[in-house]
Amino acid sequence: MLRLGLRKLAARRFQQEAVPMAAAGQLVESRLVPGHPNNLQYQQLYRSSFSAIVTSLACSQLVRLESGCRGVRLAWRQCGSLAPRRRWLAAAAEAPAAAARQQTIAQQQQEQPLITEPEHPPSPLERLMQHARLTHLAQELWGQVVRRGDTVVDATCGNGHDTAYLAQAVGSGGTVHAFDVQPAAIEAARAAVGAAVPADQAPEVHFHLASHAEMRERLGCTACASLVVFNLGYLPGSDKATTTQAGSTLAAVQAACDVLKPGGLLSILCYTGHPGGVEEYEAVRALLGQLPPSGWVSSETRLLNRPAAPILLLAWKRG
Ligand SMILES: C[S@@+](CC[C@H](N)C(=O)[O-])C[C@H]1O[C@@H](n2cnc3c(N)ncnc32)[C@H](O)[C@@H]1O
Repeated sequence: MLRLGLRKLAARRFQQEAVPMAAAGQLVESRLVPGHPNNLQYQQLYRSSFSAIVTSLACSQLVRLESGCRGVRLAWRQCGSLAPRRRWLAAAAEAPAAAARQQTIAQQQQEQPLITEPEHPPSPLERLMQHARLTHLAQELWGQVVRRGDTVVDATCGNGHDTAYLAQAVGSGGTVHAFDVQPAAIEAARAAVGAAVPADQAPEVHFHLASHAEMRERLGCTACASLVVFNLGYLPGSDKATTTQAGSTLAAVQAACDVLKPGGLLSILCYTGHPGGVEEYEAVRALLGQLPPSGWVSSETRLLNRPAAPILLLAWKRG
């Protein structure tokens, strides 16, 4: 009896509050914040009064929205991007008024499974935001300037994730220069490229067991590369004894400015959590900030609510 009474109460509350909100295009699920005691109540409500729509809260999409004579019915799973929910809610807001369409909708409901996949896969921006990793953003941006056959530079190849990405991007006919001062890093990067790129699609990859400060001499050219990337700090998984240093990094960034061709991009991920990291970041930032606006556009991107995350500095050489 008590349970039945609670359900009735919940059903009435849903009819009075949630349905008009949905009809007005608002986010009903905004009341259902993770961990809120109402969640369970509404879950029971869906199961009982509205024919068991939601079976799990583990995933992150609004999965179904329908309209009928009793108003708007929602099924959702928590978290994730708001954009698909908004689109569905907006589309459904005018549905109750369209009485003529209700018959069709009812028919579709019988023909389709109640829980469907979202119509709109997450956009590149939504994917980037969900991962909240500037390393992903950086690679996404590199892909905007690199063409097949280009010459590019990985100034700190480390374990070779970025080198492998660049090798794939320029393909056969392209050239990648990879620098690191640690033999173990060069070997790891060589293996990463070998694993990621089939031999017949591989570019020329020059591994330089040398400081990136020697970039200009090692490449032997100026205005020849479309992209130079730095991922500063220490080799992940190492004893952290060898990290990039402000002095040699500044020399390398200056060399990179010469090596870049017009339209080329300089990308520098700075970490500030290790000793010397803040000074190195500030020195590089100051250098990029002083580049003449007639020849360069420089920028800084950081995740404000993740203080330990790296900071992405970019400089684009005007074409
Ligand atoms: C954060 S790691 C790079 C990670 C790498 N991009 C990856 O995908 O795995 C930084 C690397 O810079 C290297 N390094 C330090 N000083 C350097 C220098 N002067 N010239 C070139 N590389 C250097 C370190 O040995 C380390 O492997």
